[in-house]
Amino acid sequence: MADNTNGRDLPEPQFDQFVSKATSRRQFIKGVIASGAAVSASGYLFTLAGCSPNPKSAGGIERLLTLNVNGQMRPVDVLPNETLAMTLRYKLGLTGTKLGCDRGECGACTVTIDGVASYSCSTLTHSVRGRKITTIEGLEGANGELHKVQQAMIDELGPQCGFCTPGQIMSAVALLDANPHPTRDEVRHALSGNLCRCGAYDHYLNAVMRAAGNGERVSQA
Ligand code: FES
Ligand code: FES
Repeated sequence: MADNTNGRDLPEPQFDQFVSKATSRRQFIKGVIASGAAVSASGYLFTLAGCSPNPKSAGGIERLLTLNVNGQMRPVDVLPNETLAMTLRYKLGLTGTKLGCDRGECGACTVTIDGVASYSCSTLTHSVRGRKITTIEGLEGANGELHKVQQAMIDELGPQCGFCTPGQIMSAVALLDANPHPTRDEVRHALSGNLCRCGAYDHYLNAVMRAAGNGERVSQA
């Protein structure tokens, strides 16, 4: 029945106003996994609670650096105490890297530095000059194809909210580059620095085992 507020008749709400017919859970997951874009706004909320998105307000003098990020040389002005997570998100626009705790506890900010999984919230940008930084945006192939870990995450419907997913993927990529055929316990250990508030740990383990070439889902030992 139509409501009546201040003398105005309001139309009946239609269900399809609230539910996109074209969006499936798998499509949502694919968007999160490719770039982290679907949950990037959450990262801003977390960040604003802990530090300023305007680095100049923190004081200090910015110096121009050139960083090797995702295979590109990126010049950027950086404060002495600026973290890599801040530089990536707020200066280079790479918001797939999330900020959760901003203190080295949750793993949401994980990137690889020279192939090693690293917390970007706990890494000073000045310390990674000349090193090879890879973020979730840098995983796609030359033709835009997903990395095998990203594809496996989709196949296993790994994420729930998706906030922790870029960090989980970067840790898994670093593992598989060093150890292409890990055991399930080795995967569990490699992802142990990545917390998931949704508790999707088994889904992530299944996905990494699939990406490691174990074919179908490996039984949970
Ligand atoms: S945001 Fe870096 S470990 Fe939590
Ligand atoms: S999927 Fe929600 S925090 Fe991990």
